[in-house]
Amino acid sequence: MANKQVISGKEVAKHNTRESCWIIVHGKVYDVTDFLDDHPGGSKIILKYAGKDATEEYDPIHPPDAITTHLPVEKQLGLLEPDTAEKVEVIITDTEKARLERVSRRPPLSEVLNLHDFEAVAKLVMPEKAWAYYSSAADDEITNRENHAAYHRVWFRPRVMIDVTTVDWSTTVLGHRTSMPIYITATALGKLGHPDGELNFTRGAAKHNIIQMIPTLASCSFDELVDAAQPGQVQFLQLYVNKDRDMTKRIVQHAEKRGIKALFITVDAPQLGRREKDMRQKFDAEDPSEVKKTGSDGVDRSQGAARAISSFIDPGLQWSDIPWFKGITNMPLILKGVQRWEDALKAYDLGLAGVVLSNHGGRQLDFARSGIEVLVEVVNQLGKRRGLKFPNEKFQLFVDGGVRRATDVIKAVALGATAVGIGRPFLYAHSAYGQEGVEHALQVLRDEFEMNMRLIGAPTIKDIVPDMVDASHLGAHIVAVPEDRLYGANYDSMQSASLREIKAKL
Ligand SMILES: Cc1cc2nc3c(=O)[nH]c(=O)nc-3n(C[C@H](O)[C@H](O)[C@H](O)COP(=O)(O)O)c2cc1C
Repeated sequence: MANKQVISGKEVAKHNTRESCWIIVHGKVYDVTDFLDDHPGGSKIILKYAGKDATEEYDPIHPPDAITTHLPVEKQLGLLEPDTAEKVEVIITDTEKARLERVSRRPPLSEVLNLHDFEAVAKLVMPEKAWAYYSSAADDEITNRENHAAYHRVWFRPRVMIDVTTVDWSTTVLGHRTSMPIYITATALGKLGHPDGELNFTRGAAKHNIIQMIPTLASCSFDELVDAAQPGQVQFLQLYVNKDRDMTKRIVQHAEKRGIKALFITVDAPQLGRREKDMRQKFDAEDPSEVKKTGSDGVDRSQGAARAISSFIDPGLQWSDIPWFKGITNMPLILKGVQRWEDALKAYDLGLAGVVLSNHGGRQLDFARSGIEVLVEVVNQLGKRRGLKFPNEKFQLFVDGGVRRATDVIKAVALGATAVGIGRPFLYAHSAYGQEGVEHALQVLRDEFEMNMRLIGAPTIKDIVPDMVDASHLGAHIVAVPEDRLYGANYDSMQSASLREIKAKL
């Protein structure tokens, strides 16, 4: 903070109205009066902390630098005189008490047998808002379900009589060793689920030698996550491109200096999708007249925190920007969110290092196809048009969305993917069990790999080839099994509108 003056808690407490509203975050005092109506989460929540310390409320749902990015320097008033802030009384509601009771009754990790189990436990023990943010997807959530269901249309053609006494499922991703062909993909706001936020992923990934993709909108600061990495641990960065290209350049160059090994530029989110489950939470929790308010920039504040914290993302990003990115960094560049072979081909022709065939976990365009389906057409067309064979060292294909079993990963690898990104399962694992949960999730996947490599007759990753799967019906867009019980049991159906008064009485 440029302004170093020390301000007492007593002085801050005087500014506790809409007309003059100061708050404290991490020992620093900010004047947010002019920002109240522009706050993505509405003014009401800030006013609750007017004149007080808002750090605990602020932390889980804001990237650490959100406040300094949005407030002009002159509104960043100074440092709080230690231990002088007025405390906010924390009222534990009956709902929260009941939740904490459920937390105390979580099954031990030894009873968590697969990634679906994490989802089931998380649904029971997470605060409702956090569950809504993590689990929600766009519109009718058709793509979210399809991401998972598409794997049910790929079947194995295992080999027998192969020596599988030892099996090895380690591989390399963009030249870096990893113990499995998976990585922890970027998911925003880790502290919503657990106070340690994305640090749980960094530490869990280190234990299992897995790559972590750090999100632009992490709850922990970027440097904190890099500092927490073990020597030699590989981390990638997911980038939302800011309209302010100088800011983007600073982020990218800082990341490269700090040893980040690849930059994944998200290209499927020029605007955030409508995640109605998340939006309904907001309507439930707040005064409706408050959340419908439109900020001075014209952004509708009823769209949930996620939408608003991402309002900096540049919808004008286009192919002609690629040379600029190449000019500012030597890191390999990968586009995250490619959904058709024509775009994968463009990425290849522009000399990029790869693409992630992804629809953002079904959170963006509903009825976008699954990554695994797109993978097949990309492999075919790039083979035909450029003579490429996959997996390919020079141009790597990644897939994410709906992956819940090692068999899903093996299917993607057989069809040409270098590795697969996994998102929600790690969010649920860390929300319910912290770092240990993440480690256990990775152990579950290891065990599944070991067994399934043997059962399909593949001693190494290189032995997992296209003829080991039958994907002939992948594009059929019908679900092979009417309901996948484990997934279906956790999946929340979309809710329709309900009367406020009636809900309040329940
Ligand atoms: C809660 C949540 C937050 C996410 N945040 C980001 C993000 O900030 N940037 C991004 O590129 N992708 C983000 N994603 C998308 C993931 O990187 C990935 O594409 C998706 O989660 C894969 O699907 P899965 O959750 O079924 O594994 C997010 C996904 C979830 C569930």
